[in-house]
Amino acid sequence: MTNRIQIFDTTLRDGEQVPGCGLSKKEKIIIARALEDLGVDIIEAGFPISSPGDFEAVKAVSKEVKDVTVCALSRAVQKDIEVAAEALKYAQRPRIHTGIGTSDQHVFTKIKTTREDIIERARACVKHARKFVDDVEFYAEDAGRTDNEFLAQVIEAVIKEGATVVNIPDTTGYCLPEEYGKKIKYLVDHVDGIDKAIISTHCHNDLGLSTANSIEAIKNGARQVECTINGIGERAGNTSLEEVVMILKKHHWLNYETGINTRQLYPISQLVSTTMKMPVQPNKAIVGSNAFAHSSGIHQDGVIKNRDNYEIIDPAEVGVNESSIILTARSGRAALNFRIGKLGVQLSKDELEHVYERFLQVADRVTIVTDAELKNLVSKYLITNV
Ligand code: KIV
Ligand code: ZN
Repeated sequence: MTNRIQIFDTTLRDGEQVPGCGLSKKEKIIIARALEDLGVDIIEAGFPISSPGDFEAVKAVSKEVKDVTVCALSRAVQKDIEVAAEALKYAQRPRIHTGIGTSDQHVFTKIKTTREDIIERARACVKHARKFVDDVEFYAEDAGRTDNEFLAQVIEAVIKEGATVVNIPDTTGYCLPEEYGKKIKYLVDHVDGIDKAIISTHCHNDLGLSTANSIEAIKNGARQVECTINGIGERAGNTSLEEVVMILKKHHWLNYETGINTRQLYPISQLVSTTMKMPVQPNKAIVGSNAFAHSSGIHQDGVIKNRDNYEIIDPAEVGVNESSIILTARSGRAALNFRIGKLGVQLSKDELEHVYERFLQVADRVTIVTDAELKNLVSKYLITNV
């Protein structure tokens, strides 16, 4: 089994479903280009039957990107599949992503049918999609809450019809990592013909477990991860692309690799945040504004001595210029001296002590001491040095 993990980005589809984050055709093209530069393997560009605008956007992205598979979503409905195929007509590598709910909750309460009917509909949609494209991905919606035995039957049936990728979504973000990993392993062990398809993981973050679940799925045999930039997506979001990629990179001894150019992670995070008008939380792993900011005295002292003391990622690796030493009332003399040094000012021990006392008074008042306030502090007491 190969250790190359396919990165399937669904920022333009599942991510774009977030209220207020809708994208125009032009904006989708800009983000698609950036995703191609980032090195994703598959871009899910949209859900063409959902609106004429999304149809046009998927068509435009298909024309625009060349080195990436372009995927379009459809329900297990013939018309959806035909419209998706039409939108993908110009794609060099088109993929149709079709599927249906498989959990008892979805089968009996949402679709109001039987398990037998679900298998028939699943089979039929893959068969229909294969008339238009060679690459067909099947999703078993709410697979996270689906009984494993039934899930295996559905997956076996769609692989027989020619599904090339089988997506096992934890649609409601319910599973625990161990449970989700076991689900993937169950499919690896019980589905006839599973080696003919790639298993894909698609996790939601309702319990904050989407990244952990995706990693567990990989360890148990999944070779495609569905994710979004900044983890944007329905409700609490989807698996965050930057987190999965950096986990695999930092734990290289696990022996998994992706095609992602990690130096593009921060720039694309900013692009998506601005375009979708969705701020990134400051403490967001990898791309948040505090991800490489140190503010307590003990940490600052450690980082100034050697960044490896408190940093497991070199900021440059993810496209951040450098880590920052934030001056607060919790900062010590080492941090203050470091930041004063950045202004080109060298202080003696006594001078530093003098400035430090004044600094603490300012820090208690303003919370974060800016460069301007620092210059003011230094110029007031050490005017000849500035
Ligand atoms: O969360 C989900 O189940 C989905 C499917 C449509 C793939 O987004
Ligand atoms: Zn989803």
